[in-house]
Amino acid sequence: TAERSLDRDCTTLSRHVLQQLQTFSPQAQDLSALMNRIALAGKLIARHLSRAGLMEGVLGFTGETNVQGESVKKMDVYANNVFIAVFKQSGLVCRLASEEMENPYYIPENCPIGRYTLLYDPIDGSSNTDINLSLGSIFSIRQQEGEDLDGSAKDLLASGRKQIAAGYILYGPSTMLVYTIGRGVHSFTLDPSLGEFILTEENIQIPNHGPVYSVNEGNFWQWDESIREYIRYVHRTEGYTARYSGAMVSDIHRVLIQGGVFLYPGTVQKPEGKLRLLYETAPLAYVIEQAGGRATTGHENILDVIPKKLHQRTPLIIGSREDVAKVESFIQNGH
Ligand code: AHG
Ligand code: MN
Ligand code: MN
Ligand code: MN
Repeated sequence: TAERSLDRDCTTLSRHVLQQLQTFSPQAQDLSALMNRIALAGKLIARHLSRAGLMEGVLGFTGETNVQGESVKKMDVYANNVFIAVFKQSGLVCRLASEEMENPYYIPENCPIGRYTLLYDPIDGSSNTDINLSLGSIFSIRQQEGEDLDGSAKDLLASGRKQIAAGYILYGPSTMLVYTIGRGVHSFTLDPSLGEFILTEENIQIPNHGPVYSVNEGNFWQWDESIREYIRYVHRTEGYTARYSGAMVSDIHRVLIQGGVFLYPGTVQKPEGKLRLLYETAPLAYVIEQAGGRATTGHENILDVIPKKLHQRTPLIIGSREDVAKVESFIQNGH
């Protein structure tokens, strides 16, 4: 009914965060403000993406190489700067660390009071930018521990259990924001005419098993034999279907909703794989666990991995409980 849809339109993101916590507690106020800022970053990036093909100098490469050894796209830089600009004005965030910056970015004017750090992947799935396909942004918020006087950000070298909020924005046919603050997983859809993210699904539960397997099979001969054996098992078993878009945010979103498993295993040359712990695998692991799924390196829960450096990589097997267990069993027992 019209009344029901009006009620729904009133559950905005910042309202929802407050409802999950004790509305007047300082942490509720902080988290609500932080999520509101992430939503603003998402809106700015979504707007830019939707017009990118119409503007000069927005698509393509910058000619630079980032700390990951990847060719940087103009869109990576734009989105990275959006988060900086947005959080400069939040008052709450003292440091930002992202895929596109070798060292954390400090906002000194926020530092005495701003006790939070934002870790983020500004554009996930960069290879999709110039061809108008789905992209994402990934975020994770931690409380700053200690003073970090020498700017070494050593307190960030802690497990994913330290995250107090995490999620992603998916730039697809519509823009969605999915988040957790440790009280389930909730999705919001951007209504462009209102400029607001409106609640679309509360307490999302991932199915225990699903048909999708999502992996770049081009790496088949670079993998360990156990992963090859798992893929051979999938090929000879009925009921599996392959889906891989090149942006883990969209691939994992599909798995969250429909069930299944996403894998980015290590290779013989690069045993840690490609994906980075602090702003890719740990935040997505937090979301998927909160939805009742699992995320592992194959040997260790992703949320227990303690990184040795900011840009540390981990293998990732994430999704429905039964499907993750199956991959794990191939890695650990060979079948
Ligand atoms: P990013 O664009 O942030 O560097 O991350 C891309 C990641 C991930 O989104 C995707 O699943 C994977 O890299 C794709 O890598 P391959 O092309 O090696 O499959
Ligand atoms: Mn990249
Ligand atoms: Mn990424
Ligand atoms: Mn990226």
